[in-house]
Amino acid sequence: MRVLVTGGAGFIGSAVIRHLALEKGYEVLNIDKLTYAGTLTSLKSVEAKPSYRFLKIDICDAAAIGSAISTFRPDRVMHLAAESHVDRSIVGARQFVETNILGSFTVLECARAYWQTLAPQERSRFRFLHVSTDEVYGSLGRDGLFSETTPYDPSSPYSASKAASDHLAKAWARTYGMPVIVSNCSNNYGPFHFPEKLIPLTILNALEGKSLPVYGSGANIRDWLYVEDHARALDLIAEQGRIGETYNVGGRNERRNIDVVKRICAILDDLCPIGHSREEQIQFVTDRPGHDARYAIDATKLETELGWRAQESFDTGIEKTVRWYLDNEWWWAPLREEYDGRRLGLIRAGVG
Ligand code: NAD
Ligand code: DAU
Repeated sequence: MRVLVTGGAGFIGSAVIRHLALEKGYEVLNIDKLTYAGTLTSLKSVEAKPSYRFLKIDICDAAAIGSAISTFRPDRVMHLAAESHVDRSIVGARQFVETNILGSFTVLECARAYWQTLAPQERSRFRFLHVSTDEVYGSLGRDGLFSETTPYDPSSPYSASKAASDHLAKAWARTYGMPVIVSNCSNNYGPFHFPEKLIPLTILNALEGKSLPVYGSGANIRDWLYVEDHARALDLIAEQGRIGETYNVGGRNERRNIDVVKRICAILDDLCPIGHSREEQIQFVTDRPGHDARYAIDATKLETELGWRAQESFDTGIEKTVRWYLDNEWWWAPLREEYDGRRLGLIRAGVG
């Protein structure tokens, strides 16, 4: 099996590649532009394998993508490359429109051109998995869950750009008959997570004695999934999912942000005591503009149709994650030098 992964130097893409290359023994081509969020060191465990290749390409570059696809001849494309951080999208939406919309369009069109040339057997085997987010559904109130039929209602430039790309992917299935599947997942966490996102930022700031910024009152709820559970789900969906369908992915682990931050403090206080609780470092700060109140995924379709189950609970996954950051300073120290954890995403004058 030959799998082309876009965004494979990112947080989830690298977990997908580790799963495919190490657990499944597949041939993998990683296409990534290596933005600030792309770190090839996340792929140290696979980089020496002859079945793994990397090409530094921008997904907006149709000629380079087309040539990579026709040379590699993938059985499957897993499209993860994206600008992924909501706060950055608030102050720099253009890059999100370019990569997430135009880039996805480019990958879809190049994959279609290749797929159309395939002999019938290869053609029926080919799959295109478009990897997306639960943020396209907008915000939930106190009750209810996002299902595959929840109407799209994105709040941020990030989620709006992902919603646009989901619509493109589904249109390519309906109009051109391309074997496209879409997945929409909740918040991931785990090893190799860039320290701009809540969990790794909290772990590193807590370790360094810095303040732990909690937006608003900390009552916003996210539904957390350990990244390796997501990687297994994506492989399963690409392998066994029904063409033209959407699958929601989530681990049924809803937590208030403030409780996530306090849990990280408690684990660190236990593993590396400093004589007082790190909760003292928590600082409530100006809320994120357009902050969605609650996300929660109903993963029944994935569970019943494809038999997927999350293996990590939030309690086991968060402890593993904190320990991983304690043991892997070599990975995150250079990233902290590039981005020191300063607040992102407060609206300023001018255009993005
Ligand atoms: P990430 O920011 O960690 O990684 C994104 C990767 O894409 C990086 O390696 C970056 O270099 C690459 N990239 C960005 N622009 C590119 C371009 N123009 N051309 C080629 N490569 C480019 O993101 P992530 O958290 O790993 O998310 C991966 C995908 O999963 C995204 O599509 C995201 O929307 C989706 N998703 C993320 C989460 C989450 O909680 N992180 C949840 C659900 C869905
Ligand atoms: O739901 C899936 C989405 O999850 C993905 O599509 C995105 O790519 C991913 O970044 C993530 O988006 P969030 O905005 O939910 O993640 P983030 O880690 O940025 O924020 C999680 C919550 O914590 C959110 O309610 C905002 C809050 N927060 C975040 C930061 C960075 C804080 O309170 N303080 C912070 O410093």
